[in-house]
Amino acid sequence: MSILAKQNFRGAYHVSPQVNWMNDPNGMVYFEGEYHLFYQHNPFGDTHGPMYWGHVVSKDLITWEERDIALLPDEHGVIFSGSAVVDWENTTGLFPAGPGLVAIFTHHLEIQGSHPIQRQSLAYSMDKGKTWVKYAGNPVLAHETFVDFRDPKVFWHKETNRWVMIIACGQTVCLYHSSNLIDWTLGSEFGDGIGSHDGVWECPDLFPLAIDGDESNTKWVMLVSIGADPAFVEGSRTQYFTGDFDGVVFTPDAASEVVRWVDHGRDNYAGVTWSDIPESDGRRLMISWMSNWHYANQTPTEGFRGAMTIVREMSLELREGIVTLVQKPVAELELIRKPIVALQDATINETSQALQRLELVSYEIQAELSTNYSSGFMIRTGAANGTIVGFDATSCSVYVDRTKSGEIGFHPLFSGIQAAKVVTSTSGESIDLRVFVDSASVEVFANKGQAVITDLIYPDPDAVGISYFTDNANEPLASLSIYELVPDTKD
Ligand code: FRU
Repeated sequence: MSILAKQNFRGAYHVSPQVNWMNDPNGMVYFEGEYHLFYQHNPFGDTHGPMYWGHVVSKDLITWEERDIALLPDEHGVIFSGSAVVDWENTTGLFPAGPGLVAIFTHHLEIQGSHPIQRQSLAYSMDKGKTWVKYAGNPVLAHETFVDFRDPKVFWHKETNRWVMIIACGQTVCLYHSSNLIDWTLGSEFGDGIGSHDGVWECPDLFPLAIDGDESNTKWVMLVSIGADPAFVEGSRTQYFTGDFDGVVFTPDAASEVVRWVDHGRDNYAGVTWSDIPESDGRRLMISWMSNWHYANQTPTEGFRGAMTIVREMSLELREGIVTLVQKPVAELELIRKPIVALQDATINETSQALQRLELVSYEIQAELSTNYSSGFMIRTGAANGTIVGFDATSCSVYVDRTKSGEIGFHPLFSGIQAAKVVTSTSGESIDLRVFVDSASVEVFANKGQAVITDLIYPDPDAVGISYFTDNANEPLASLSIYELVPDTKD
């Protein structure tokens, strides 16, 4: 066995299971001071298999405590993806003694000699998510036509005073509504003739966001993930639409006629947002599975496989007249920063000197790069490898190059360069970059969160160096900060 295969690759500030397999984030809900995160979990092995809901809990979105498995398969099938809400008003009748949690998930039942059946079910918890009871009337929602009918995301729609469910139906999403989470009525279907259909539609979400922080001017955002089809090298990806929603029908705006991606890397999938974040906080927080179905079952970790992205705060901004989805690393990440480098207008020599002796695995780079020329950073560098994160002035793009990032041979589609256009011309403006590096990942936020690239990497153990490069050695680097990210894991 090679040294590489023994490497842990467990992120310092990314959620991953202690053992075995993890895919989609499920049932994210905030309740009584705790952020809950459930996830697709195979407790018997480190590849996708019979699905359970694993469970972790956090008070700060950085350190997570692993809890007992929340949902186990039963006579209706294994437990696929879904969501969770707080039933504040006891609409279900299940909580006479005060609010509790309801999970709405897909029961996936394998049928010998036929295609599987996917139906929606409920489970509820009266002890803040510690233990769960399956609803006796499961499944609560079935469909005769759709073979793929899964991943219900439920939210309270206050304008119509009822619950809404968005659910993936093959190549579309369906919107249902309900007064009690138990009886559901189909309102509309969306997706025909719009968006990317390069794979099966999965894991949708729908939520309102203020444009530029103006609460009187909101738009609805729909997220739709698309599964990896062998015909498309990109594999699993998530697209978004902006538009209006009246509780029944989602009407996309003109900007949604063009396909728009949530992330331009290869490893951000099935992302959905937290339910029941208090209004006093007001943030819309998303987390995604950091992998790609093309190679998710083959990544070179040992003992566990799968991790989540960092939590991201979503917002809408008007950029060049278009309502655009913007992502920022959750602010709590700033609390675990340990300052390592702080440079302003540094020459290339000063920058190289500041970086040359650094040995870091888990850190953030914050930099202001000129758009007049190409420059960037080589991260996780060692004798044999390194990953490039930079701005390319020819294509006006930020990019991550993982062609020499370490272990790349486990799948033919893993190695590659991912780019996102961030400016229309090399206008003399500068561009801001925040780069989150960890044991096995890099997440780049460019141009104030307009373009994001999330990529897994599997560097050699000695790959702990950082360097800067530029094709204009006469120009100083406007600003550079590096923070080691050190979560407090004491309790
Ligand atoms: C997306 C997905 C979901 C499904 C789950 C099964 O990654 O395929 O559609 O519910 O994973 O684990």
